[in-house]
This record gives sequence, C-alpha cells and structure tokens, in this order.
Amino acid sequence: IRPLRILGIETSCDETAASIVVRHADGRGEIISDVVLSQLEEHSAFGGVVPEIAARAHVEALDGLIEEALSRAGIKLSDVDAVAATAGPGLIGGLLVGLMTGKAIAMSANKPLYAVNHLEGHALTARLTDGLGFPYLMLLVSGGHTQLVLVKGVGDYERWGTTIDDALGEAFDKTAKLLGLPYPGGPAVEKAARNGDATRFDFPRPLVGEARLDFSFSGLKTAVRQAATAIQPLTEQDIADICASFQRAISRTLKDRIGRGLARFRERFPTLSEPSLVVAGGVAANQVIRSTLQDLCNEHRFAFIAPPLNLCTDNAAMIAWAGLERMAAGLPADPISVAPRSRWP
Ligand code: KG4
Ligand code: ZN
Repeated sequence: IRPLRILGIETSCDETAASIVVRHADGRGEIISDVVLSQLEEHSAFGGVVPEIAARAHVEALDGLIEEALSRAGIKLSDVDAVAATAGPGLIGGLLVGLMTGKAIAMSANKPLYAVNHLEGHALTARLTDGLGFPYLMLLVSGGHTQLVLVKGVGDYERWGTTIDDALGEAFDKTAKLLGLPYPGGPAVEKAARNGDATRFDFPRPLVGEARLDFSFSGLKTAVRQAATAIQPLTEQDIADICASFQRAISRTLKDRIGRGLARFRERFPTLSEPSLVVAGGVAANQVIRSTLQDLCNEHRFAFIAPPLNLCTDNAAMIAWAGLERMAAGLPADPISVAPRSRWP
C-alpha cells in the first residue's frame, strides 16, 4: 500500500484549523502541517463562544488556513488523496462553513470526502500520536463534552459515561465567571488555585459511589456560587481557596468515576496485557486533573496516555487522521449530499 495523504478541516467551535496528515504504508501517521487559528479574542469580551461571530470568523479565515497548510506541506490540492471535514457535533454555522468548503474542494479536485465526527477525531488521536492499538478507554473532557468512551475500533465505540448536566470545562468556565476570573475559566481557576487551601470548602461530589459511569457538575457550580455569595467581599485568598477546593472536588469525583471505568475495562478485557486510558480535550491541560488520572492509572496498572496539548484541544490533524483511519479500514467515503449535524453522539 502506498502512503495516503489527506487534507483535514475543523470548524466545529471556536478554532479554525487545517492540516495535512499522511498515513504511511506501515500504518504510522505523520502530521505534515497543522495550522490552528483560535478565536479566543473575538469571544472573550462575551465570556463565551458567540455562534454567529464564530461562523463569520471561520468564513474569513478558512481559505487562508487551507492554503497555509498546503504550502507548509509543500503540496498542491491535487496532491491529496482525500478531504476530511468535521460534520458535527458542534455549532451549526461553523460546521456549515467547514463542511461546505470540504465539499467544494472534494468536488473540484475530484477527491473523496469524509464527513468526520469531531468526537471520533478526539477518540482516535492516540493512534496518531502513540500508535495505540484497540481497544482502549478514552476520557474526553472539554468545554462541550465529558465522556468516557470504550474505543473498540474505527467507527466502533461504546459510550460508558457522559455528563447529565454541565461539561467539565463548562463547570470551570462558569466557576471562573462567578468569581470574576477571566475567560476561558479553566486556566484562570487552575492558576488561582495554586495559592489556595483545597480543604477549606467541602464541595459536593455528585454521583460518587454510584455504579453507572455518568458525571454531573452543575451541583458543584451551585455550591461554589453559595460559598462565594456567603463571603462578601471576596478576597484574593477566598477566591484561591474556592478554586483549590473546587479542583479537589473534581479530582475526587474523577477518581471515583474513572476508577470504576478502569475496573470495568479490566473485567471486559481480562487478558489484555497493557490496558490504556487516553485523555483528550482542553481540560486535559489541567495539572491537578492530569496527576489525578496518572495516579489512578498507576494504581490500576493502566498506561496513561495524554497526547501533546495542541492535539488534545481542537485541531484539524485529528480530523484528517480520522478520515485516514476510515480510508485504511476500507470504510466508504461520504456522498456530497452529506449534511452537518449539530448533535451527533
Ligand atoms: O477542547 P477545548 O479547547 O475546546 C472545546 O471545548 O472543544 O476545551 C476548552 C475547555 C474550556 O472550557 C476551558 O476552560 C478548559 O477547556 N480548559 C481548562 C484548562 N485549560 C482549558 N480547564 C481546566 N484547567 C485548565 N488548565
Ligand atoms: Zn473538541
């Protein structure tokens, strides 16, 4: 088999991204170019992603980013074997921009089009970065998703747990907003927590002890609000203590929830010699959460795999790779009529 080369496009949220990825004959993946434009500045004044602003920013940036990805790779459009674009889940305006662009390129250059599920992109990234074999367990923790997924094969997933209310990144963002910290909240909360007393507040840890593997974070946010309104005015130390206690509650929740997931994985695949937990999503940047997961994996004798941060957060290389995985598995390309889906489990 000759190497396969693909153009990937990602526009599902507030990152506009394009990438060229190669799958070599031995199955190894290689990122040839990977360009990402974050819209953080456009949205920060609003304390969150504004869909209409995001869609317009994608329209303005995407053509240039695709050209940049091609020129960094030193190739032309006619040199790629296929085009992969995120078709969902995400903000519909952005999805339309990326998928329509992918379709236009695929049609004009006469290449197959792969309409990729964004979550599948996150799920398969560890195979690109670490050459991981199936099956493995994946924890996706981002601003929009909190899922524990069994990855059995390309296109073959079991969702073991999901949030019943807020996503974990959303809980960080809302907590930051409550405390007057800047957007995005995750890094701000983590920074503030460094000088805080994690034992000062005993915040709730919803669903801990339950057999099902779901998550819930809205009660935690409410408890933070109550703590913050009970102390007025809030000093910098109060904010630090709340942030540290908030992260401690999350750590303990994850320990319980993911610990159960690892045990279930062992039961399901008792003969697998080196089981792995992969983490993805922007919240994976958090050092407290990382070390919690690392400890948990050590305890359960799992390998803990955290792809480099730029591949944990939204990017087009993972979309390109998901397309390559489908090509290599002999799965069909999508018809040009394929529609974007804001919801797509
Ligand atoms: O994966 P991502 O870049 O975008 C999507 O949501 O798709 O994740 C962004 C989320 C935001 O909610 C942000 O607050 C959170 O990841 N985040 C963090 C940290 N860095 C980013 N949460 C906790 N600690 C961090 N250091
Ligand atoms: Zn994502």
